[in-house]
Amino acid sequence: MEKALYTILSNELIADKTFRMRLAGPTGSLKRAGQFVDVAIDGFYLRRPLAAQEWDSDSLAVIYKVVGEGTAIMSEMAPGQSLELLCGLGNGFDADACRKSALIACGGLGASPVFSLAKELLEAGKKVCVVMGFNTAADAVLVDEFKAMGADVHLATMDGSLGIKGFVTDAIKAVQPEFDYFYTCGPAPMMKAVCQSLEGPGEASLEERMGCGCGICYGCTCHTASGPKRVCADGPVFKKEDIIW
Ligand SMILES: Cc1cc2nc3c(=O)[nH]c(=O)nc-3n(C[C@H](O)[C@H](O)[C@H](O)COP(=O)(O)OP(=O)(O)OC[C@H]3O[C@@H](n4cnc5c(N)ncnc54)[C@H](O)[C@@H]3O)c2cc1C
Ligand code: FES
Repeated sequence: MEKALYTILSNELIADKTFRMRLAGPTGSLKRAGQFVDVAIDGFYLRRPLAAQEWDSDSLAVIYKVVGEGTAIMSEMAPGQSLELLCGLGNGFDADACRKSALIACGGLGASPVFSLAKELLEAGKKVCVVMGFNTAADAVLVDEFKAMGADVHLATMDGSLGIKGFVTDAIKAVQPEFDYFYTCGPAPMMKAVCQSLEGPGEASLEERMGCGCGICYGCTCHTASGPKRVCADGPVFKKEDIIW
């Protein structure tokens, strides 16, 4: 984990109430897709956890939806301004758990942390099927980017405005992808349905309200098959068999 001041390089609206912010600063503590940063916002005691979408040696990107006061303030920030981040938090996804072909099932902004995962799997010569779900076409993010990297992309929306009409699990049933390991990230009911409907091994990235974000306060504890775990430090990614829904 590292704490540093990051400079905003860009902050663009990419979907309904959804922004991608690129920040310049140290990224050495980001080792795995699925790790997150905790953003300090002036005037707020608690930081805001956001997944790292992608990063290189001196910059990273986050994608965030404006849902409350903190993210609203972020959406009004301009290039050149700075934010203090705790970077490189959480365990991230286990890309080595997939042998040959992966299914990535994501909903909403769950697409953000699995973006670097898909890239890593493809670069290792593995096949990647990405099934993405959104409420409506206006919420869709990263669809073209997943396609451009070579993933086999399938879409579902609740109103049928993009891809099939229905849930991510409906699209998986329709596509019948072959995979030896799955990864899922998104709203809890979606991940629960994915984990309970798919046979075979996989893992899910859980979300919990956080205090410290780095393992100290135990405010994000969840119950797992192997006892209580802190989502921020022991997770946010947990094996399917460990999760108690
Ligand atoms: C590991 C992790 C990764 C996340 N990644 C993303 C992401 O990539 N993009 C994205 O848009 N959102 C993500 N979230 C959710 C994001 O943290 C909240 O939407 C955000 O903190 C809301 O802040 P706010 O001030 O706008 O909302 P408010 O509701 O005003 O926030 C009040 C407090 O509640 C906390 N809080 C609110 N919602 C959540 C939530 N869903 N999870 C955890 N804490 C919350 C805030 O951090 C803050 O302390 C992630 C959450 C976690 C735990
Ligand atoms: S938020 Fe403090 S231990 Fe997880």
